[in-house]
Amino acid sequence: MRVAVLNGVNLDALDKRDPAIYGGLGLAELESRIYEWSKRLDCTTRCRQTNHEGQFVDWCHDALDWADGVIVNPGAWSHYSYAIRDAIELFHVPVVEVHLSNIEEREEWRRHSVIGDLAAKRVLGRGPEGYKEALEWLAEQ
Ligand code: DQA
Repeated sequence: MRVAVLNGVNLDALDKRDPAIYGGLGLAELESRIYEWSKRLDCTTRCRQTNHEGQFVDWCHDALDWADGVIVNPGAWSHYSYAIRDAIELFHVPVVEVHLSNIEEREEWRRHSVIGDLAAKRVLGRGPEGYKEALEWLAEQ
């Protein structure tokens, strides 16, 4: 199975964000764990991160021709970007929405995700392990 993992805005600064919320792990370490879990599950995975909304949309388009499953954590864009919602809506393969923190138990403005209803599965508040759960779920499909 080919899996695209797309992380969005500010996830490159994960290790500089509040460790009580994000756990203190850096993006490089997170991605290396994702590659390790993928290997064990026999998935071919491509991880990408960007702070630029148009780039995120372009990578969604690239993944259309390639991925059998997609994991997205668009960061703050999840709460308001209809451009990213439209890009995610193009997928005909399962999309898993992952958030390291439990957005449903945080500030009011974070509780709504504009992509929530497009996701075949949502994993909230499980930290880095949330990506593992998402990969395992995709590998079972
Ligand atoms: C996040 C939650 C978002 O509300 C926030 O803007 C992020 C990270 C998470 O993984 O918990 O940047 O997507």
